[in-house]
Amino acid sequence: MSVMRTIPVEHILKRGEDANLRRTLRGRDLVGFGVGIIIGTGIFTLAGVEAKEHAGPAVTLSFVIGAVVAALAALCYAELASSVPTAGSAYTYAFATLGEIFAWIIGWDLLLEFGLGLAVVSRSWSGYLANLLGLPQELFGEDATINIGAVLIIGLLTVVAVVGIRESSRLTNVLVAVKLAVCVLIIAVGLFFIDVANLVPFVPPSVPAAEDASVLNQPVVEGVLGMPATLFGVGGMLTAAAIVFFAYTGFEALANLGEETKNPRRDLPIGLLGALAVCALLYIAVSFVLTAMVPYDQIDTGAPLAAAFQSVGLPWVAALISLGAVTGLTSVMMVELVTIGRIGFAMGRDGLLPTPIGTVHPRFGTPHRMTIIGAVVVALIAATTPISELADMVSIGALSAMIIVAIAVPVLRRTRPDLERPFRVPFSPVVPILAAVACFYLMLNLELISWLRFAVWLAIGLLIYLFYGRRHSHLARRPG
Ligand code: ALA
Repeated sequence: MSVMRTIPVEHILKRGEDANLRRTLRGRDLVGFGVGIIIGTGIFTLAGVEAKEHAGPAVTLSFVIGAVVAALAALCYAELASSVPTAGSAYTYAFATLGEIFAWIIGWDLLLEFGLGLAVVSRSWSGYLANLLGLPQELFGEDATINIGAVLIIGLLTVVAVVGIRESSRLTNVLVAVKLAVCVLIIAVGLFFIDVANLVPFVPPSVPAAEDASVLNQPVVEGVLGMPATLFGVGGMLTAAAIVFFAYTGFEALANLGEETKNPRRDLPIGLLGALAVCALLYIAVSFVLTAMVPYDQIDTGAPLAAAFQSVGLPWVAALISLGAVTGLTSVMMVELVTIGRIGFAMGRDGLLPTPIGTVHPRFGTPHRMTIIGAVVVALIAATTPISELADMVSIGALSAMIIVAIAVPVLRRTRPDLERPFRVPFSPVVPILAAVACFYLMLNLELISWLRFAVWLAIGLLIYLFYGRRHSHLARRPG
């Protein structure tokens, strides 16, 4: 019962052909899906929070750093996604290259990333909706004992996700158009309200963590390496980069759609890199405009972008932004939910989770069981847990999965040099190694408490694997 056993790539490809997932998506749909899941709470909320608390105007550079790290990882994803197109994405790549236990860890990681990502965004959605419609904060705001808005939106989207991927994709494309329009509006109108004085100094001098933390009425944070966490200065910019990496998470979801894409070998790399490029440009421009419009220490942390336009006397732009946030966050949640379904489906199909989870609905052709189970668990978490407790966990889960994906690229090149690779990472193994190191470095800039919570999640996962997955794995039943 070796925990290092692997699934042959040919078997994965054959199985993809046999599965009943419908192949309906094209490159354009994938870029839409990507933008749909990538742009969300990260730019609408975290950009402002991080400018105020860690980086000042240099938060724009934090987004640049995040984009570089995400692009390095996306190159690795693109090579694997084009040569092993499958519903399980990074989970399945690890199964083909590094072995079953790594596959389990990565699948478990991705469930954390997308599950908690969905929880964060549903709460943030609920808050914006309350702002827009004047709904009671006790039911829809961050202070609600039970966040009704978060539960309602998750329930609604679950129905769409179960009924069909084609329908999810159509809905997503409409929502994405609204979201892009709002980002362009922010940049185009915001440019007229730039005050260069707000950008000086671009990298504010660093402040002792303890002093600043007490000003912000926050607990003092400790860096993982035992260093005091830096606020402002270059260190603050790096911490902000690790936190706003949240804004880029989600592009990996595209790699899950390999079995539902018409021509995955061409369309997946286009979708991954295209979506990331669009988002990076918008993030950099929007964060620049925001910090140029408002002195960083006066940025509103609840609805930073809307408040910036209110402060320059343009309430109609502010209202449009809130509307755009509500719409934009809906598409993020939609894709996250779809992804949870696909990952669980892949793990169930291999026997690491109970087999019924790995079958598709006879009529709708979607992995309905995992979608519903995931939605119920996430709704319970989202109803009761504050965003601040959840956001860093998404970054740490995403970054650790990316490290495994980056390592899988040179491993698969060595073990399966014969495999057709329509897209190849340039300068392998240099670029994959660089990607893994960059992801790890960003992880080091996150708080110790996030690492501890992550360790607990992994420990629970390993127990489930040892007592369930290892024995029920289909590879255990069919040795060799
Ligand atoms: N990248 C997604 C967001 O920023 C999770 O909301």
